[in-house]
Amino acid sequence: MEIRPLTGAFGAEVLGVDLGSGIGDQQAQAIQMALAENGVLVFREQAFDIDGFEKFALSIGEFGDTPFITPVDGHPNVLRLLREADEQGPLFGSGWHSDWSFQLKPPSATLLYAVDVPEAGGDTAFTSQYLAFESLSESMKSILLGLEGIHSAERSYGPKGTFGRPDPNSSMDIHGDETAVVHQLHPLVRSHPLTGRRSLFVNEVYTVGIEGLTNSESSSLLKFLFEHCKQIDFTCRVRWEPGTLTIWDNRATQHFAINDYFGNRREMYRITLAGEQPVLASS
Ligand code: SIN
Repeated sequence: MEIRPLTGAFGAEVLGVDLGSGIGDQQAQAIQMALAENGVLVFREQAFDIDGFEKFALSIGEFGDTPFITPVDGHPNVLRLLREADEQGPLFGSGWHSDWSFQLKPPSATLLYAVDVPEAGGDTAFTSQYLAFESLSESMKSILLGLEGIHSAERSYGPKGTFGRPDPNSSMDIHGDETAVVHQLHPLVRSHPLTGRRSLFVNEVYTVGIEGLTNSESSSLLKFLFEHCKQIDFTCRVRWEPGTLTIWDNRATQHFAINDYFGNRREMYRITLAGEQPVLASS
């Protein structure tokens, strides 16, 4: 297995491995560690059916919980992210976020496998939340280290959220409800259980406030952090081909589905892997 950096900042392509034919424990551990270090791993020309995709996912983790979206028939842990060429409603994933950060134990990682993609367009962009944290001043870091973010699915899946009502024109069955409005606290800075590196754990889709601050304090600080995370120097971008599998580490990255392919069809399969409750370890 060869690991080739995707950019000067983070992300890597992994060559010389056929994931569909099964991997051993040693390879699984190497992939888990490479993911924790690089944040994003891209594997090209992988051949999976849905059973094979689940089997590979289970070789590197356990399934996470997938709320608000009807999964593939007979495969409760697999989502089909489908956008037909003429669809125009809100695009799933098109906002900077870390998957399901409103859960008590947000997913450690997400696997996305491309089945049908536009010739150009429909890339996924990523930011490194390690770099976002490490590039802050020591004074700002020390302010953030004592704070907790308030995470909620309400803006996306609450009754008034982007996906709050079923859209009959959408190829995906996304059904928000009132359970989305609950709040979950997580440290603004978390330690990665495998690397020990600290990352900034905020995102503009699901982080709705900061515990203990006034609304004006928390919205100003969050606005700064959201902008800070999007700096081009902290990003990488994956261009998809049929058979590309990308895995991202939700503890150390955010991602954004780019909405630039109207007139083209895009079909992907997605699995999230279970994670732990985020903690900030003392250094
Ligand atoms: C997601 O947020 O999981 C979707 C990413 C994508 O479709 O590129």
